[in-house]
Amino acid sequence: MKAAIYTQYGPPEVVQVTEIQKPVPLKNEVLLRVYASTVNRTDAGFRSAEYFISRFWSGLFKPKYQVLGSEFVGVIEEIGVDVKSFKVGDKIVGFDDKKFGGHAEYLTLNDSDAFAILPEGFTFTESAALTEGSHYALVNIRAANVQPGQNVLVYGATGAIGSAAVQLLKHFGAHVTAVCNTPNVALVKSLGADFVIDYLTEDFRKTSLKFDFIFDAVGKSSYAVCKNLLTDKGIYISTELGNNGINILLALITPIFKGKKLLFPIPSISQKDVEFLRDLAQRGEFKPVIDRIYSLDQIVEAYKYVESGQKIGNVILKIAE
Ligand SMILES: NC(=O)c1ccc[n+]([C@@H]2O[C@H](COP(=O)([O-])OP(=O)(O)OC[C@H]3O[C@@H](n4cnc5c(N)ncnc54)[C@H](OP(=O)(O)O)[C@@H]3O)[C@@H](O)[C@H]2O)c1
Repeated sequence: MKAAIYTQYGPPEVVQVTEIQKPVPLKNEVLLRVYASTVNRTDAGFRSAEYFISRFWSGLFKPKYQVLGSEFVGVIEEIGVDVKSFKVGDKIVGFDDKKFGGHAEYLTLNDSDAFAILPEGFTFTESAALTEGSHYALVNIRAANVQPGQNVLVYGATGAIGSAAVQLLKHFGAHVTAVCNTPNVALVKSLGADFVIDYLTEDFRKTSLKFDFIFDAVGKSSYAVCKNLLTDKGIYISTELGNNGINILLALITPIFKGKKLLFPIPSISQKDVEFLRDLAQRGEFKPVIDRIYSLDQIVEAYKYVESGQKIGNVILKIAE
């Protein structure tokens, strides 16, 4: 089968499209014919091993699993004898940041992995990006225990995580203020933001609003800068570690006290989470923002664009027609 593989950590060019052996499903596994995937910051982070810590999961000296692709959508082509909840022909969507595998024509999944049946009416292209940014957003929104009517600021509302966060926060009944640049104000409003701050014309730090939760979805602000904008028990979460990993330290210290705090939840995703996100999409409450679409052969270009930090939402990788 055709796959994009990497045998060493490094820049986008370490990825090569080549032929590898098609996987065979075990008794409790399904074989998925992949139609689409994404190239996202999770794939890029593991490929570059920019943060050395990722190697404790992906292999200390070289990658344990050579095919990246944390998101995937496709059709089940074979099932193991013990698989009861899925059948051949099921169209499914899922996420895997342990074994990955979406950047190939086939992958195998354990029947309890984080994937769910995709209802009719969804195209592979629009469904491929249902899980990555959105599950990070969901983990953080849950950690902040967002309640209906609360004021939330999403900084970086045009990324995969930020654009999902705005939509999920509206589902949970929050009042959302979103920060983005001028060309994307209309997009972010269309995602449901109640109020948009254009960072090219306005400094969000000068707003008179106070927030129960500030979610920095692009990891470019800091707790020190945002603290004054938090309510007395307000919560700050960033998707990045902060300068010298300060966010890890603050996540250990600030919750000891009763007031404002920084949290740093460890992301996870289950089959139930994928079902939740799929159901939201089915009800029209969540629609992943799609920027560019690349073919598997163009994967190096796709990585370069994703790592420019300029993508709007998600970058799709088409694996099959
Ligand atoms: N290491 C990992 O495994 C991992 C996994 C997932 C995510 N992450 C981190 O999570 C963050 C978000 O990822 P993502 O995929 O959602 O983001 P992304 O899609 O790469 O975010 C890019 C978007 O953020 C906007 N942006 C950049 N700087 C901004 C700023 N200062 N203010 C407002 N908007 C800004 C950009 O628009 P403009 O600049 O044009 O305004 C662009 O639309 C990244 O920092 C990423 O590294 C890490």
